[in-house]
Amino acid sequence: MKFFVDTANLDQIREAYSLGILDGVTTNPSLMAKEGIRGTNNIMQHYVDICNIVEGPVSAEVLSTDFDGMMREAEELAELHQHIVVKIPMVKDGIQAIKALSENGIKTNCTLVFSAGQAILAAKAGATYVSPFIGRIDDSGVDGLLLIEQIVRIYQNYAFETEVLAASIRNTLHIIKCAEIGADVVTSPLSSILGLLYHPLTDLGVAKFVEDSKKMI
Ligand code: E4P
Repeated sequence: MKFFVDTANLDQIREAYSLGILDGVTTNPSLMAKEGIRGTNNIMQHYVDICNIVEGPVSAEVLSTDFDGMMREAEELAELHQHIVVKIPMVKDGIQAIKALSENGIKTNCTLVFSAGQAILAAKAGATYVSPFIGRIDDSGVDGLLLIEQIVRIYQNYAFETEVLAASIRNTLHIIKCAEIGADVVTSPLSSILGLLYHPLTDLGVAKFVEDSKKMI
């Protein structure tokens, strides 16, 4: 399973990269705005900065929702850096754009996916990744992990090449469950990735070994 970090914060991306287990980054307009990135030149430069840290795919989202606008933005984003994957929302024009971009060899991440039907359309259009939003589904009172299971099964049935990128991860358990289900990628806040590190028995064990090691010297 690949690990992407879901942030536009350069310090967090550097920290995740320094762990040696980072495979990529996803961003969205909300995450970019949170970092105070404004204006086309600054937005483009920020994506380049992220790409220069990470040795892997970096999802950069289009802001348009019409076909022509999405295509124009996608082509500009794709030219920025070889790591760029263009994030396209799951709307009718978005599916048409994904199809056209995949035929032009531009990688895409179909975002804001909340149903198996949407995931089928994304795969049929040739999306490189599909991003079902687990946490937001959980928030609506439905188990978001069931959707990941369903999409993984459907994609296996037809050997679709689109990778299932579990998004809107809210906690460490989401990551573990996605690994059990067989999601290809999780994109997660750094805190949920770091949560995988901790176990109180490990902390107790390390403290005891450190204490006992003093008796050996
Ligand atoms: C990923 O690509 C999405 O942008 C992100 O995971 C959304 O997460 P949220 O529901 O916590 O905003």
